[in-house]
Amino acid sequence: MTSIQKVLLAIFVMILVVSCKNKESEKFVASEEVKTDYYTEPYRPQFHFTPEEKWMNDPNGMVYHKGVYHLFYQYYPEDIVWGPMHWGHAISTDLLHWEHKPIALFPDKHGLIFSGSAVVDFENTSGFGTKENPPLVAIFTYHLMDGEKAGRKDFQTQGIAYSLDNGDTWTKYEGNPVIGNDGIKDFRDPKVLWDEVNHVWVMALVAGDHLQLWNSKDLKKWTKRSEFGKDKGAHGGVWECPDLFPLQVEGTDEEKWVLLISINPGAPNGGSGTQYFIGDFDGEKFTTDQTETKWLDWGTDNYAGVTYNVLPKGYYGNTYDNDPRQDRIFIGWMSNWAYARDTPTEKWRSAMTVPRKLSLKKVNDNYSLFNYPVSEMESIIDNATKKNITVSAGTKESISFADLNQSEMLFKTASKNFQLKVSNSLNEEVVLTMFGDEKQFFLDRTGSGKVDFQENFSGVQQMPVPDLPADEYEVRVLMDQSSIEVFINEGQYVMTAQLFPNEKYSNLIIENLGEDEITFEDLTISKINGTW
Ligand code: FRU
Repeated sequence: MTSIQKVLLAIFVMILVVSCKNKESEKFVASEEVKTDYYTEPYRPQFHFTPEEKWMNDPNGMVYHKGVYHLFYQYYPEDIVWGPMHWGHAISTDLLHWEHKPIALFPDKHGLIFSGSAVVDFENTSGFGTKENPPLVAIFTYHLMDGEKAGRKDFQTQGIAYSLDNGDTWTKYEGNPVIGNDGIKDFRDPKVLWDEVNHVWVMALVAGDHLQLWNSKDLKKWTKRSEFGKDKGAHGGVWECPDLFPLQVEGTDEEKWVLLISINPGAPNGGSGTQYFIGDFDGEKFTTDQTETKWLDWGTDNYAGVTYNVLPKGYYGNTYDNDPRQDRIFIGWMSNWAYARDTPTEKWRSAMTVPRKLSLKKVNDNYSLFNYPVSEMESIIDNATKKNITVSAGTKESISFADLNQSEMLFKTASKNFQLKVSNSLNEEVVLTMFGDEKQFFLDRTGSGKVDFQENFSGVQQMPVPDLPADEYEVRVLMDQSSIEVFINEGQYVMTAQLFPNEKYSNLIIENLGEDEITFEDLTISKINGTW
């Protein structure tokens, strides 16, 4: 090599090194950028669960295993409208920060994978695993499209699948379906629980207008035991997504059984909603003397919600630690079939509610199911300074807050006559009204932003509040980029609704609608930090 060639080679190598270095730093910057862009699209919820992309509906297979909360969900990976259903999958250790996992269940020759549940088969009753490594077993509905198209009625059957690696990979049972269909058109959404008294698996399954309860020793062979509900509760639509579990009545030794039934349509404010029954379960039959229809959430956007399966308390057969968490935790799909396909998002569609703890209380001699955000939520809410606010009769107070779209409003009051108006500079507003004279609470999203993407979205939602405490009670409002969740008296009365403002909300007006001065005690408006 001549010296000129050597110099040219050295220059070439130097250029190469420098350009590689630049590439490195570009790479670094690029990945940083990806991170800051993540989950920042318009209306992307910041502390609610959403899939990275595409369509989601019901939560499925909610099970707590070895310190991990699994959330599966109805998922169509090809589009942002409902389509051939898969089970999407995510995991979390605190119910707030989620890690997306690969799709867990794909359609097969028996059909699409509709809603269902999952259990830890801790005694290995199915034989799919061992006692040392108990299988996770998913129990779901197969929906055979060809059967439906051919006009048959037996196209929904129940199938199972298992995982031996904590939900990462799943194997379908070769004996599927485990429950066939004798010609019931809507026959779906199995929720399986362990009956500690009778040492048997129980399946709650819906069949059009009623609930069926089935038993199994091994999750494979099932026997039908009873039916419930043809003449009970609301029947404005098809019964879907049942859940059945015991709860202790707070402050007593009494245990009752709670049955959740989602119905669509027929909810009190239109479209989809979730009713509940409080009663008894003897291992075979659910019974109740409840006559009135009770709703878990009166807002339009909490549907198909069910609760986490946890291991029985202190179960003796375990070779690994028992689950510390025995709370009954609920998550619902934050949408409504009336307009779910039309909401104005592009990359993904729809979110889950915040996780809520269910508790059973007796109010005025009447069983009441409360639902309230899990205590983990407090870790993502900034501590704002508490203020007492007094508003004289017929006047208003106005408070600005930069980003009400990601906030918690919290206060205590004895007043039953006030209005909260959350608005932006475009005069878009969502209005909450406590109207004591009529014992009603209203959520008005008529002028809240984008509302005309579908005719059923706009409007005023109403909730009776007959049993509010005479004295002080708490009002807690959680707002995310496209939702509002209102919890009155720690979850006694709840409303959940989607919102699509054209600009972030930044102002709160508190109006006194009564004839006496009102006080909001310990009022805080706090930022809720994002979890993505
Ligand atoms: C409820 C539901 C279920 C069904 C699933 C299908 O929203 O209709 O009954 O299993 O959605 O995606």
